[in-house]
Formats: sequence, structure tokens, C-alpha cells
Amino acid sequence: HLSTTPSAREGKIERLTVFGAGLMGAGIAQVGAQSGLKVVLSDVTDKALENGLNIIQKSLARVAKKKSPDDIEGFTSKILKNIETTTDAGKAVEQSDLVIEAIIESIKVKRDLFGFLDSKAKSDCIFATNTSSLSVTEIAESCSKERQEKFAGLHFFNPVPAMKLVEIIRTSQTSTSTYEALKEVTLRMNKSPVTCNDTPGFIVNRLLVPYLLESIRMVERGDATPEDIDTAMELGAGYPMGPFKLLDFVGLDTTSYISQGWRDKAEAGQISKELVQPIELLDKLVKEGKLGRKSGEGFYKVSHMIE
Ligand code: NAI
Repeated sequence: HLSTTPSAREGKIERLTVFGAGLMGAGIAQVGAQSGLKVVLSDVTDKALENGLNIIQKSLARVAKKKSPDDIEGFTSKILKNIETTTDAGKAVEQSDLVIEAIIESIKVKRDLFGFLDSKAKSDCIFATNTSSLSVTEIAESCSKERQEKFAGLHFFNPVPAMKLVEIIRTSQTSTSTYEALKEVTLRMNKSPVTCNDTPGFIVNRLLVPYLLESIRMVERGDATPEDIDTAMELGAGYPMGPFKLLDFVGLDTTSYISQGWRDKAEAGQISKELVQPIELLDKLVKEGKLGRKSGEGFYKVSHMIE
């Protein structure tokens, strides 16, 4: 059920609605609730909402162990009180100051959702998408001109409670006051925001993905082993995790999928073609079901993988 207490004072974001109770949405709802926001978490089924609340409960218990070891129950229930759930998308946004969408990575499904929410949310409610690979501008275009000024990307990283970075993506329509409000609320969520234009991969993935792909090419050419490349980048470049450990962590299928998507963007001149040339070794591993941690084997077998 949804409560009906007053909402934002002087434009400050106090009520957050998160769509998608999966891995990312649950994490975003959790950090929102931990920072004192009133959160509504919405998904299409009660089962998905239950799954989201389970993710949050487990994660909060881990936080509580460190922060409040004598009162784990009290700590988690206090934060959980800030989270309500509903499968009714319209009701979920009625009082919302900020909507963050973290549903499946489909342009059509995201556009349908935002198009629907546009007429349900308050006119000053800010809309944000957590998309990793789609154009924020194209998603925003499902909404009215006025809402497009209040639309941006808010790109969190997995696992959300642990990763400090949030990329704020400004489209050409995003207003300065929208941007400032998003910056302020991410700081309140104890995150470190950075800003980027609406370009493929934003900052982190734009630099990270070509680097990961080039590492695979090095192995394919027989120039060095995955183990030696990982050691080299950890000890020589100071990276906390070498590229192959990271590839296994992210998932080879996900990396291949991003690279494929960027080949289409390369055709449109948004990114250089050389960076995203197909790689036989990557395609072969994905075909064999060697996807990384999630399948038990990628470049490494699971027993060698980092926790
Ligand atoms: P997930 O598959 O864990 O969760 C997606 C959730 O959205 C599911 O619970 C599903 O039932 C729900 N959903 C689907 N359609 C819906 C709709 N119309 N309305 C409400 N809920 C709906 O996915 P995950 O990994 O949490 O990703 C979500 C978004 O976050 C995607 O856009 C993804 O690209 C982005 N992202 C993912 C990262 C990752 O590492 N997994 C990192 C950063 C962004």
C-alpha cells in the first residue's frame, strides 16, 4: 500500500520511485532508503518485488554487521520502513519527485514505460534511466517536450551499495536545474557523481570495453597469456583486477553484446570501427557457454576466480 504524506519541499528530492526490482533496481532502492528518501519500488509481478526485497534484506544485513553489529534487526527494519512496493506503475509515481528506471535493457519496453508515466507523474518530477548501452535521448523522446528537460541518465554500477560512482548523462534537452538536482541527490546517496554527454558507453564503458576487447585480441594473437596480462595490469598499471578477471566477472556474453551494439553505432559514425571489430575467440567462448563467473568458466575456471 502507498502512504500519502506531503512530498518535496522547495524542489528538494524526497520521494524516489524505482522501476525494476532486479539486481540494479534493488540496489538503487536500498541506497535511496539508506539516505533517507521515501522509496517506492515497482515491478511487473509480486514475485519480482519479493526478489528485490530479498536482495535488499541480504545486502542490508551485510551493512548492518559492520555499522550496527549489536542491532542488525533494528538497523535493517528502520531502512526497510522507507521502502514501499507496488505493481501499479501509475500509482507508484503519483507523488514521486524522481523516477529511476532500471528495467530490462530494451528501448521499446523503456519507451513504453516512460511514455505511460509521463501523464501520471507530477509535472516537476524528474525522470532518469539507468541504461548502460541505450541512447538516453531516444528513451527521453517517448515523453513530452517539457519532461525531456527533466530527463537524464543516472548510471549506477554493480553492486550499487558498494560502488561509489554514478554517471549523470545530460542530453541536449536536460535542463541545468534537473542536472543540479540529480547531482545533489546522488551526493546525498553517498555517491560520487561525474557528468557525461549522451554518447556510447558514457565514460567508464567507453574506455573499459575497448581495453577489454584488446586484451582478448592479445591472447588470440598468442602475445601473452590471460594470467600474465592480469598480473601485468594489476602490478604494472595498479588496476585492482586484471582484464580477464574483470571479463569473467562482467560476463563474456555481456561484453560481446555491448560490442555488437557498438558496431551498429560505429556504422552511424558515433564510435570508431576498429575498436569494436568482432573477435573470434570471444564468439567461440560465448558459443561454448563459457560466460565467466555466472557459468562457472570463462577465461578462468570458477575455482580460480576472485570472490
Ligand atoms: P535484472 O534483469 O536483474 O532486473 C530487471 C527487472 O526489471 C526485473 O525484475 C523485471 O521483472 C523488471 N521489469 C521488466 N520490465 C518491467 C516493466 N515494464 N516495469 C517494471 N519492471 C520491469 O536487470 P539489471 O541487471 O538490474 O539491469 C537493469 C537495468 O540496469 C538495465 O537497463 C541495465 O542495462 C542497467 N544496468 C545494469 C548493470 C549491471 O551490471 N547489471 C550496470 C548498470 C546498468
